[in-house]
Amino acid sequence: MTTIGNTQDLRRNATLPRIPEPSNATVVPSASRSISPVEVQTLKARQKAMWESGDYGQVARSIVPCAEEFIARLPLKPGMRVLDVACGSGNLAIIAARIGCVTSGVDFATNLLVQARERAATEGLDIDFVEGDAEALPYSDAKFDAVISMFGAMFTPRPDRVAAEFHRVTKPGGFVAMANWTPDGFIGKMFEVFKAHLPPPPPGVPSAMLWGYEPTVRERLQVFAELKTDRRIALMRFPFPPAEVVDFFRRYYGPTGRAFDALTPERQAALYRALVELQTAHNSSGTPDTTEARAEYLRVVARRSE
Ligand SMILES: C[S@@+](CC[C@H](N)C(=O)[O-])C[C@H]1O[C@@H](n2cnc3c(N)ncnc32)[C@H](O)[C@@H]1O
Repeated sequence: MTTIGNTQDLRRNATLPRIPEPSNATVVPSASRSISPVEVQTLKARQKAMWESGDYGQVARSIVPCAEEFIARLPLKPGMRVLDVACGSGNLAIIAARIGCVTSGVDFATNLLVQARERAATEGLDIDFVEGDAEALPYSDAKFDAVISMFGAMFTPRPDRVAAEFHRVTKPGGFVAMANWTPDGFIGKMFEVFKAHLPPPPPGVPSAMLWGYEPTVRERLQVFAELKTDRRIALMRFPFPPAEVVDFFRRYYGPTGRAFDALTPERQAALYRALVELQTAHNSSGTPDTTEARAEYLRVVARRSE
């Protein structure tokens, strides 16, 4: 089983604050026109199938320490109403419920919600997990004290809708908190590799990694009264070599599996080589037999005015 270590404060390792400029290849939307409703529907059906493929629950288990640290740094208190958006198998929701929050989770992946409900039941936690779209949240206005999303809402095709929905369902004085992979961090680079080997997404769909780019996040969440960000590291540790980590992701992580499925055997081999190379280049474990990657994410906390 993989382990992903605790997140670390980047300031320990950086002398100067920096806002990494994302490479154009990563973030520039493929065209200036917006995506049509029919294209959105088709894309969402494809994305739902992608996240339901493999077994994201396996990957999620290994980022529990990252989720625990994320929750620990939020001002959550027993009795607060919390919504975990794009909750997957329930990592954040379960931790929030453990501390006594009245917790809901929403995701469009049916099978991951089944896992989330099973996990909650095992611990005797009462969490309302609902199937739904992060761009059209099935909740009334101003329902939640906190709306949280870890590596989830960042993957929807229309970030403006997500931002508006987050604001709508948050109570005045409440807050939104997101963990978003950065374009130049390890996971951002992994998505760059996918992109180099796959056909482009429909025109008008911005890169998910823009949610990890602070200036864009500020623009998208400008309706909120207050916004704080900091860059963090999820330490991803695996007790096996880089090539086996690629195998693990190919088997369990929908985006990796789907990227391979879309290619001919020759192109699959090229993608595999590129991913092993990336994983090896970022291996900070000090030994080729185990793998450690320092995956950067942007932590975003935005408060809605009273
Ligand atoms: C990388 S997983 C993260 C899951 C969970 N937040 C965690 O930390 O383990 C991304 C999740 O986003 C969900 N997702 C992506 N787009 C969505 C959308 N438009 N509406 C609801 N869920 C969505 C996927 O189904 C998947 O569960």
